[in-house]
Amino acid sequence: MRIDVVSIFPEYLAALDLSLIGKARRENLLDLNVHDLRDYTHDRHRTVDDTPYGGGAGMVMKPEPWAAALGRIAVESPVATATGEKPILIVPSPAGAVFDQAMAYELAEAQHLAFACGRYEGIDERVIEHASEAYDVRPLSIGDYVLNGGEVAVLAMVEAIGRLIPGVIGNPESLVEESHSDGLLEYPVYTKPASWEGREVPEVLLSGNHAKIARFRRGKQLERTAARRPDLILQLDPETLNRHDRDALWHSGFAVHEGKIIPRSELAWG
Ligand code: ADE
Repeated sequence: MRIDVVSIFPEYLAALDLSLIGKARRENLLDLNVHDLRDYTHDRHRTVDDTPYGGGAGMVMKPEPWAAALGRIAVESPVATATGEKPILIVPSPAGAVFDQAMAYELAEAQHLAFACGRYEGIDERVIEHASEAYDVRPLSIGDYVLNGGEVAVLAMVEAIGRLIPGVIGNPESLVEESHSDGLLEYPVYTKPASWEGREVPEVLLSGNHAKIARFRRGKQLERTAARRPDLILQLDPETLNRHDRDALWHSGFAVHEGKIIPRSELAWG
């Protein structure tokens, strides 16, 4: 996969040289290029921002350097040349759709992703419209809070996407059971020693009984998700829940009623 990131703080992206993503780059699974937006300016001060039309606080990123940087990346895109397809341009923004694991899986299939890191109050909106001629543009948020710029969001998204590229993670099975892969949070994990500071590892995990262990873990997933992310429980398909699952949910305050999952408090006889 090719990834291009445009930022006025290219050093921010140095963390992508570390750990599994760094290794994937060295192994050529990931061709990651970071561009300094100021290299696409033409004035002595390398200006990238200006005051907003209509007034208001802060500064807005000027369209010209962005058009030059994104134009260059689009022209050099391996997808555009090979298949005529549009590369995907992700614009991190608190005003974007929320990035999630399903999106990470979808984006991990792409051949070319570009990221445009805005700073200040954002990028002149016309850049986004103009870019959609050459790119499939996706404004994406990493959560309902405001960062100072897109760089940290890019670090999060590139890591979430990059680890799903075949070959990046040594043991792909570890992807199957992790949080969010089946709409639930992951079960708790333990390692040696079996007894530590007077706290014991749950006995069933020492039993060697794989069916029992699987049931215990699934129960913990449901219990934990119900406590921490009840919104995810309400999105489950009741058809996928067996008797043990329904029991676990019942004990965590949810019921399957007339083909729907509802909080137990909403049962008429609750
Ligand atoms: N830029 C500023 N805040 C952001 C957020 N929550 N997600 C993505 N990009 C951002």
